[in-house]
Amino acid sequence: MNLSRRSFLQISFSASGLLTLGGLIKYLGYQTETSSAQKTFTLDKPSTYSIHSATHIASARAWMFRDEKGLYAISTLCPHLGCAVERREGDYLCPCHGSRFLQNGDVVNGPATRGLNFIRVSVGAEGKLQVHVDQIVSATERLTS
Ligand code: FES
Repeated sequence: MNLSRRSFLQISFSASGLLTLGGLIKYLGYQTETSSAQKTFTLDKPSTYSIHSATHIASARAWMFRDEKGLYAISTLCPHLGCAVERREGDYLCPCHGSRFLQNGDVVNGPATRGLNFIRVSVGAEGKLQVHVDQIVSATERLTS
């Protein structure tokens, strides 16, 4: 196959344009992960979560914990661009750009410049737990139930 210089350049520019468009779509896809319409998620009763338990609440993009002081939840949305961080033994890692967070949510490696959000936990109707992903609380707040 004999390509002219002009044809080669046209194909090259088209390919690079498609790659750029693919990257943009992927980036925008990450953004839509943070824009879920549902803000409150109803879970099981508090007694379901035993002391020192760690429960992944995939629908709420959060982890629920219970320590000696009570129940609390940490959002898995990375504060950099909103990717879902992955909980590992002892820390959280963001697969998108490599931010790393300690078990208590504090950031140890960027590009994220702040830690993971603690989100409000309450008891709703029928005594079931609710996680409010749009309500950020202090890292020391606990639900004693
Ligand atoms: S979205 Fe997590 S480090 Fe960029």
